[in-house]
Amino acid sequence: MASKSEKPWAGRFRQATNPEVEKFTASIHFDCRLYRHDIEGSIAHARMLRRQGLLSKEEMEAIVKGLQKIRAEIEAGTFEFRLEDEDIHMAIEKALIAKIGKVGAKLHTGRSRNDQIALDMRLYLREEIEKTRDLLLAFRSTLKHLAQREMDTIIPGYTHLQKAQPVLLAHFFLAYDAMFARDEERLREAYQRVNVMPLGAGALAGSGLPLDREYVAKLLNFPRVSENSMDTVADRDFVVEFIFVASLIMMHLSRLSEDLIIWSTGEFDYLRIEDSFATGSSLMPQKKNPDVAELVRGKTGRVYGHLMAILTVLKGLPMTYNRDLQEDKEALFDVVDTLKASLSIVSTLLKHVDFNRERMEEEANKGFITATDLVEYLVIKGVPFRDAHEIVGKVVAYCLEKEKTFSDLTLREFKKFHPSFGPDVREILSARESVRRKKTIGGTSPERVKEQLRK
Ligand code: ARG
Repeated sequence: MASKSEKPWAGRFRQATNPEVEKFTASIHFDCRLYRHDIEGSIAHARMLRRQGLLSKEEMEAIVKGLQKIRAEIEAGTFEFRLEDEDIHMAIEKALIAKIGKVGAKLHTGRSRNDQIALDMRLYLREEIEKTRDLLLAFRSTLKHLAQREMDTIIPGYTHLQKAQPVLLAHFFLAYDAMFARDEERLREAYQRVNVMPLGAGALAGSGLPLDREYVAKLLNFPRVSENSMDTVADRDFVVEFIFVASLIMMHLSRLSEDLIIWSTGEFDYLRIEDSFATGSSLMPQKKNPDVAELVRGKTGRVYGHLMAILTVLKGLPMTYNRDLQEDKEALFDVVDTLKASLSIVSTLLKHVDFNRERMEEEANKGFITATDLVEYLVIKGVPFRDAHEIVGKVVAYCLEKEKTFSDLTLREFKKFHPSFGPDVREILSARESVRRKKTIGGTSPERVKEQLRK
């Protein structure tokens, strides 16, 4: 149990902290993840204090050395994190004082844990956004590689999960790549707003000491310092923004996972997931399940939950810092872990999938999927679009009734629906021809898809 004298803020307290309160308010068991960032920030802060004459050279050096030792101990696993140290800031500061004596007590000069935690979070998130971007780039190159490989594979395109029009499988992969390209852009923009130096805001009002905030920013490689000290300690919009971008990335991963899941069913049979990337059933011996894709889909819900959580934590807070803000950490850490693991595993999963190309093309030639091409055929012959739509609709109804496909129809049968049908109608009935004709910018014709790939 903690004794009163152990708390750095205990001066005005007459009682020791109740152990249940201590346990309830502690964050050390999760914010210990921020130790590197906390130490990096403290070293920059100490150097600035020295430069401003608030520490002597020897004092600064003792502090920096002490902090470096603590970092080494944490990394070696010999540092003891104790619940009664409350959070990572207190734990490190206390260890520093224990190590180098009274000089250590000068480190917190001109600083509050409120601006300190804002700095730690920004340093942490800056690093994690960079790692996420690298994973996203690797993922996008997997998609582009698959697009290149599947330039010749035709699949049925769907709307409402009903066969709509044939497309290239490459086009499908590049559609996802376009979504992830926007996500990458969003990450870059979010980074700009994370990349702002908060230290020097103090508890909320700034400082009466001659602190050089710009120097700290320079040491920590921030392009700018925050402009309003109250805003600096009160808001976590940069955390919300990152979790929102993470939610979008997860949503895109989840939709791709869903496509893989339905395509792997016996009913579709468009692809097989290799055994090493599937799991079995404890009861049904025949089962092979797409659990990886399902878990990505499921974890997306969890990430959305964190987005709602952080928005809700923030919505009623009076200015400025409130302890509620400590609740941002577990949400953010879990989002970071989930997002990185999901990006990485979906990228690998895609390399362990075998596409059933014959079956896809076979299905892409069924279900009157070239009906729109027939409409366009009539339009080119001068038939108004609405009329052409109705005529082809009637051809479809006729085929359904006679249990025929378009290709089974004779020219005479076609001509009964409209005299403009000629012998060349045969040429447009295949999925491959349908794809070839979609030459508008962004369309699925091979030239246009190659153009997307080049971009
Ligand atoms: N652990 C706190 C947090 O995560 C930072 C410390 C600020 N605590 C305080 N009582 N002012 O936000």
